[in-house]
Amino acid sequence: MKKNIIFIAAIIFTGSTLFAQKADEAAIALHPEQAKETISRHIYGHFSEHLGNCIYGGYWVGEDSPIPNKNGIRTDVVEALKAINIPNLRWPGGCFADEYHWMDGIGPRSERPKMVNTHWGGVTEDNSFGTHEFMDLCMQLGTEPVICGNVGSGTVQEMSQWVEYLNFDGISPMADLRRANGRNEAWGVKYWGVGNENWGCGGNMTAEFYADQYRRYATYARNYGNNRLYKIAGGANSTDYHWTETLMKNIPHHMMQGISLHYYTTNWRNKGSATEFGDSLYFDVLRRCVEIEDAIDRHIAIMDKYDPRKRVALIFDEWGTWFDVEPGTNPGFLFQQNTMRDAMVAGLTLNYLNDRCDRVKMANIAQTINVLQALIFTEGEHMILTPTYHIYEMYKVHHDATMLPLSFESPKYTYGNQELDAISISASRNEDGMMHMSIVNIDPENSFHLTISPGMEIGKEVTGRILTADEMTSYNTFMKPENVLPEEFSKAKIKDGAITLKIPAMSVIVLEVPVMN
Ligand code: AHR
Repeated sequence: MKKNIIFIAAIIFTGSTLFAQKADEAAIALHPEQAKETISRHIYGHFSEHLGNCIYGGYWVGEDSPIPNKNGIRTDVVEALKAINIPNLRWPGGCFADEYHWMDGIGPRSERPKMVNTHWGGVTEDNSFGTHEFMDLCMQLGTEPVICGNVGSGTVQEMSQWVEYLNFDGISPMADLRRANGRNEAWGVKYWGVGNENWGCGGNMTAEFYADQYRRYATYARNYGNNRLYKIAGGANSTDYHWTETLMKNIPHHMMQGISLHYYTTNWRNKGSATEFGDSLYFDVLRRCVEIEDAIDRHIAIMDKYDPRKRVALIFDEWGTWFDVEPGTNPGFLFQQNTMRDAMVAGLTLNYLNDRCDRVKMANIAQTINVLQALIFTEGEHMILTPTYHIYEMYKVHHDATMLPLSFESPKYTYGNQELDAISISASRNEDGMMHMSIVNIDPENSFHLTISPGMEIGKEVTGRILTADEMTSYNTFMKPENVLPEEFSKAKIKDGAITLKIPAMSVIVLEVPVMN
């Protein structure tokens, strides 16, 4: 790749100190005295839809399958997701949610009605994975369910009854039905989506019409016992700021705890291959990823205007890369490979969301298994982990930790006459007194020297792990499942209370340092 490296020193003022920063280095200052926000573990959430082989073959193989399973749910997948402390799982869609009639997915499996999954490949959905199976999955994972109800083609009564079925413990038609289907206790589902993409596949509504519909549906999605629903309004598409503004204006804030946003890293006109790309498309995808950050900031600014006390959360419940499907696979199944480029998008996005944790309380990457920016691929009895999975595994140290504000001037990653910040960093401190920093260098050719001033007394040992690869197109396959794998990173040092390291090109590093006070 042709790259212009500018070695002109940048003159930077930090407080009263004047110093020159070279183009291949950065000085990072942490500000622990300003730390007050918690990085909700729910930012590390997931999304799984009845789409392609996400549910069927991904989680669900059925009780009679030779693939090891518990109650029909594959054991290898459960173990892999438990290893990243999966905090929540959004289901059943996506576009599928606004066509899904939950009563078709309860009762004896052999008697459940079938339906056509019109959005995703026109395949027959036999409803064998329904409410009880999903709740069992969440319990096996130890994760919070996030259920998205049907506003587009469902009724207010249908949604209201689903909540009653899930959450009411007394005597009632729905609670009795649940008991008849084998579950005595209410599950107590908290997170409740009121429709999905209602500007599009969820009913093609205007923002004004949806806001009114939201008020109706949300009214009858009741709280039962001590369980308080956390209701999430179906939010905007990408840069549709009018949608966010209308919902913030027209829905009373006590009626919604969150408002969602969907924004995929893609070029809708020409998505391109997930694996066959060069420098230009690598840069293009990362540029689009950074553009999303700017868009989220604009949505947040609108929310700040109507809700300065930040009572309504931004829930980024669909995000990730979206490329052409792999050649020869069903176009409706959205199956794409996952390379080091996807890992960079995940690392950048999660760092960015961490730093907006005062407003962003949940995010869900699309979609956990075999679909879009997946963490896991399955093929028959086999399962492999993608580079994106490894980012989630490395970053789990940030779950529910206190975010540490920081400041620095990033060196640039230049391509032709375009440039992006090469380095992204997020830092947090957990209850065990450990500080973690996730550091991303998206530049595929240049390494950078970093000096990190922690602003507090730290121990003498720093440990770390790194995810990198020989090629930007590197990925894992069933033949080579460990082609892209995190490794120990021992090159960070502590000197005079500061951490120094050289971050290699195209890599993600997570450092761990004990804090002394
Ligand atoms: O994740 C795939 C689809 O993308 C979802 O079903 C929909 O909500 C979005 O358009």
